[in-house]
Amino acid sequence: MSGEPTPSVTYPAYADGGLKRLLIDGHLVDSRSGATFECLNPATGETLAWICEGDAEDIDLAVRAARHAFDDGPWSKMKPYDRQIILSRFADLVDARHDEIACLDTLDMGMPLVRTMGNRRRAVGMLRFYAGLTTALLGDTIDNSIPGEYLTYSLKEPVGVVGAIIPWNNPHIAFIWKVGAALAAGCTVVLKPAEEASLSALLLGEMLLEAGLPAGVLNVVAGRGEVAGAALAAHADVDKIAFTGSTATGQEILRSSAGNLKRVTLELGGKSPNIVFADADLERAAEGAAMAAFGNSGQVCSAGTRLFVERPIFDEFVDRVAKVAEGLKVGNGLDRSTQLGPLVSSAQLERVTGYFEVARGEGAALRTGGVRLTDGEHSKGYFVAPTIFTEVEDEMRIASEEVFGPVVSAFSFDEGEDLVRRANATTFGLGGGVWTRDVSKAHRYARAIRAGTVWVNCYNLMDPAVPFGGYKMSGYGREGGVHQLDEFLNVKAVWLRTD
Ligand code: NAI
Ligand code: MG
Repeated sequence: MSGEPTPSVTYPAYADGGLKRLLIDGHLVDSRSGATFECLNPATGETLAWICEGDAEDIDLAVRAARHAFDDGPWSKMKPYDRQIILSRFADLVDARHDEIACLDTLDMGMPLVRTMGNRRRAVGMLRFYAGLTTALLGDTIDNSIPGEYLTYSLKEPVGVVGAIIPWNNPHIAFIWKVGAALAAGCTVVLKPAEEASLSALLLGEMLLEAGLPAGVLNVVAGRGEVAGAALAAHADVDKIAFTGSTATGQEILRSSAGNLKRVTLELGGKSPNIVFADADLERAAEGAAMAAFGNSGQVCSAGTRLFVERPIFDEFVDRVAKVAEGLKVGNGLDRSTQLGPLVSSAQLERVTGYFEVARGEGAALRTGGVRLTDGEHSKGYFVAPTIFTEVEDEMRIASEEVFGPVVSAFSFDEGEDLVRRANATTFGLGGGVWTRDVSKAHRYARAIRAGTVWVNCYNLMDPAVPFGGYKMSGYGREGGVHQLDEFLNVKAVWLRTD
């Protein structure tokens, strides 16, 4: 195999080619149907494991376990401090085994080791952040204007059973992001990982048991989206769905949530504008704009895929970004020098190379990339070159649809032109970037971009304490920050006559 793990990284025992079971009610179990599916390494095509494939029946068992753990079990009766201890212990375990978890994700979905391992601080930090919030869930006392003596206050109560449906583009972070917050709020969870990358979720589920989580509080059911995911989204005993993935699937989930009017939060796709003014630090901006679009091979919901460059510097700046793109090392993520790994699957490869054709057909000019890489170590995996298109019109498909590959469309703009309108002319609203040395301009555009996050002179930074989420068709609800806990809490008002 090309790209043997670097000596300091232990090849994860979990990727031993064996059968991985579902976690239901504190036990590792086969799926009821006995079905399994294969888990592949997208860099090499090798089999990493076989996974039990859950369907509606397994989801139902998992929801019952989560329901019982919430309604009658120990979790809802446990004091915040005791939940905090379990989350803190889990944080310690994740810290101790992070290299292994990171390597598992690299094998499973291709993200380079430098990137998966670079997530340690965030992974552990999120868990410690949520553990802290466990003992800081506050209601209000409220002055009312009713004649007489009435005390009013609010209680924050966990919503109940949460169905968490996560994607494959940053697997262990996606798990922690949803499960950590839901558990801190006192909810129980049924998690459905993405079929492309289920391993770290199954391993983290086992680690939560080791941390002392009672049976049934977290259940992990791997399986297909249209089967297991759809069953979870439609289940009458699920109180809330927390979803990250495509906008189309988000809409599907919202429709199936109508049956019992369960709460839903959606973190969906994007087509984020990244705006570079002529007065920016161009070296920093070129590096930043390249990684905003190409990082994780473009498989990032908030990727800066529409690059707006002020006309006087357009050619020079696109040259700089192209130079960065051409210098990026694309390869097996286990090699520490790799900067971009493969795409996650043959389906993503087809989608991304399909967009190369779409863009050419629409008349966009290919500046660099635009091909699948098949030479040498690339021959067995789903690799594509980082790609830049110029001469892109705002209304082309390449300019408006989420590609989810390392592809950026570059546009020029003139000072004073209706830049804000163009930047916001998208159905999405997840992220955006502004590069300038002018502080007024920075603030003006940070406010004008209709998106949940705007980065100024940086891009795609994430922190446990900072909220993240969408405007428009990028979804609603916030993850991260103290705001996230509210997504898993109900507010109850209590009225008390005191005379
Ligand atoms: P997807 O939205 O279909 O999958 C995400 C998760 O939803 C997976 O766990 C999947 O099993 C589940 N799922 C799929 N269909 C479902 C259904 N009917 N009911 C309930 N759950 C369901 O995304 P997919 O197919 O993996 O990727 C397609 C495109 O979606 C990508 O090319 C990209 O544009 C976008 N995407 C965006 C992500 C983001 O972070 N915003 C993450 C993954 C994909
Ligand atoms: Mg899908």
